Amino acid sequence: MTFRAAATAALVLAVATGTTSDAAEDRSRLPLPVRPCAVCHGNEGISELPGIPNLAGQKAGYLVKQVTKMHLSARVLLGLGVGRVEGPRTSHESLWTEHRENRTMARQSATLDDADIQAIAGFFAAQPRACPPPGIERGTRFILVGRCAVCHGEDGIGATPHIPNLAGQHRLYLADQIQKMRSAERGEVFIDADIARATGIMGPQSVLVPEDQINALALWFAGAPCAEKK
Ligand code: HEC
Ligand code: HEC
Repeated sequence: MTFRAAATAALVLAVATGTTSDAAEDRSRLPLPVRPCAVCHGNEGISELPGIPNLAGQKAGYLVKQVTKMHLSARVLLGLGVGRVEGPRTSHESLWTEHRENRTMARQSATLDDADIQAIAGFFAAQPRACPPPGIERGTRFILVGRCAVCHGEDGIGATPHIPNLAGQHRLYLADQIQKMRSAERGEVFIDADIARATGIMGPQSVLVPEDQINALALWFAGAPCAEKK
């Protein structure tokens, strides 16, 4: 079982046993399309599990783009069943030049329409960004940060509506996504459909990151200060 599968199973169990009943009651006050998402991403867009991304304070344009990619990829992914996929370049070229496959999110996004996606993105973008966990040390700034900062900002605030904020995100999630984007760029064949994320911009960026600097980059951006929402 992968980390994410285990994390999701634990969460589902918590929901089933009623340990999150307060959260469930709060969820009933959220806009309807947001409610199923809040189960995993948190009622305010801050998730309790480091493998599930925070959505709070993320760029609305970026959220729309990601949910749309996952929605389009989901049709292919669910049609194939859960299991082996051929690899990003071949199976999806005609559908979408970039794609993002994740079995959990495929089920969540497959039936959304444009209005739902806009409403959900607007809701989460308006929530205050998460602060880094207490005690997190960003470390000393190093050269590679400068390349990422051109688009993501020194303190992890994306420069345009379609470039995500990395500030306010879980360190583990950031490192995991860099790995996924590297694998997709190299055209690796996936035996686990959970790991494909093709992106024309981040593909070439992510393969240039040396393996031993992935965690340091994730830490630098996850540890960015949160004092004001920008
Ligand atoms: C069962 C748990 C679960 C539920 C419910 C869920 N998600 Fe997710 N979501 C995830 C996981 C896990 C990921 C990370 C996927 C990956 O690794 O690519 C994710 C990723 C995302 C991302 C990408 C964030 C980023 O920074 O790129 C967005 C956006 C998102 N989800 C939106 C939604 C929306 C909208 C809904 C409701 C329709 C939803 N999610 C419901 C687990 C969930
Ligand atoms: C030329 C602009 C650009 C540069 C330079 C760049 N990025 Fe990105 N980054 C993007 C864009 C655009 C996306 C959204 C990709 C998508 O649509 O899936 C992104 C996405 C990401 C994500 C996924 C965030 C999430 O919420 O899932 C991570 C992590 C990331 N970049 C890290 C980095 C790191 C680390 C560097 C430096 C090595 C870097 N980026 C350099 C533009 C850039």
